[in-house]
Amino acid sequence: MHVAKTAAFREKGTSGRLLERQAERESNARTYPRNIPIAVSRARGSCVWDADGRRYLDCLSGAGTLALGHNHPVVLEAIREVLDRGGPLHALDLATPVKDRFVGELFGSLPRPFAERAKIHFCGPAGTDAVEAAVKLAKTATGRETVLAFGGGYHGMTHGSLSLTGKLAPKEPIGGLMPGVHFLPYPYGYRCPFGLGGEEGWRVGARYVERLLDDPESGVKRPGAMVLEVVQGEGGSIPAPDGWVREMRRITRERGIPLVVDEIQTGLGRTGTVWAFERPGIEPDAVVMSKAIGGSLPLAVVVYDAALDVWEPGAHTGTFRGNQLAMAAGAATIRHVLENRLHEHAARMGDLLLRRLRELRREAPCVGEVRGRGLMVGVEVVDPEAEPDHLGSRPASPKLARRIQAEALRRGLILETGGRHGAVVRLLPPLTVTREEVEEICGILGEAVLAASREVP
Ligand SMILES: Cc1ncc(COP(=O)(O)O)c(C=O)c1O
Repeated sequence: MHVAKTAAFREKGTSGRLLERQAERESNARTYPRNIPIAVSRARGSCVWDADGRRYLDCLSGAGTLALGHNHPVVLEAIREVLDRGGPLHALDLATPVKDRFVGELFGSLPRPFAERAKIHFCGPAGTDAVEAAVKLAKTATGRETVLAFGGGYHGMTHGSLSLTGKLAPKEPIGGLMPGVHFLPYPYGYRCPFGLGGEEGWRVGARYVERLLDDPESGVKRPGAMVLEVVQGEGGSIPAPDGWVREMRRITRERGIPLVVDEIQTGLGRTGTVWAFERPGIEPDAVVMSKAIGGSLPLAVVVYDAALDVWEPGAHTGTFRGNQLAMAAGAATIRHVLENRLHEHAARMGDLLLRRLRELRREAPCVGEVRGRGLMVGVEVVDPEAEPDHLGSRPASPKLARRIQAEALRRGLILETGGRHGAVVRLLPPLTVTREEVEEICGILGEAVLAASREVP
């Protein structure tokens, strides 16, 4: 028995052995290794190498965290500086020179009028912690208990954030999530919630929100916050039209409802502007940030208008709010993005990705829609045999999307799937991705789509 197991282990290679041990020991809730069954042992730039030395192009980038790719020299140097100097690694929320520099860089990356009024609160280390904090702050400031969120939105997995998340599967087994959350339709043109699509679809959506808030019999008490993503990430790489975002800002401002923009995935250049809310030109009341701002390490903050600064001392504490290495890495990352205008590079590379992937539609009818903004791109995979609806959209094909992901992995490309039914193949390469790498990514993805289409009837 033992001999047989060892032989099987040897055949599998180091990656296979590590995966097997992982499956034995880790929670059943583990996610990525199920569809990306590799053990990662080395990483640099846009690439990772598995434990058997095989190279992969990484279009997952730590779920959009790695703005500068893996192990960027600027990030490593910032971390080394803290270590070599003997700086504190843990500092609760005490003042430190590293924190001061981080806040300076972060505020410097924000539009000036917002930065001038901004306050920052350091949260626990994950994105979901910043969402929890922002909602709690808005509720405290308004004294209201309801919150508006959007279908397809993703804000994290802790109780409050999960309550604001559209995806039903992780919510269904849990009773007693945060009460008072009301979901509104997001402008998802390809599968328009009103069956209209285009500008008409999002305008109807905006009017619906406005009427709902003004209707004394809507059943929805005046909300303490509206929480939205300017480009939905996990929901399937869905950019909201600028006009719709501006309407949400107007509607909330006119009614004194704090607008919380979730920039956890979109932030720091990913969508082609430094912050996604800059493109529609709105000013949020609060912005939640994580992922890229920690320069690969865990860090989450909420930045908000000083008018919301109502918490009493100690109203929102936490032990891990002073990660000095993350602040140093984050400050260096922010500076590098701004100095090298990587958001503009992301916009150019994103356009190239979209152009190349749209060419795929000619050969592969399973490519329903290719969409995105900057380096947040999604390919919605559909059943090519099924009848299209009146908007020309075919039913989602999660099976085919999964197959494409597997075929891409076989060819050395790591992709994520997300969106409704998991049928959107998502690409989140680092902002430093080169033109040659984009061409390589598109070449592999093209082959994977064609191979998967042949295999899945
Ligand atoms: C938009 C958005 N909000 C919140 C989160 C939650 O962040 P975390 O997984 O770090 O808790 C995510 C994670 O993917 C996200 O994309």
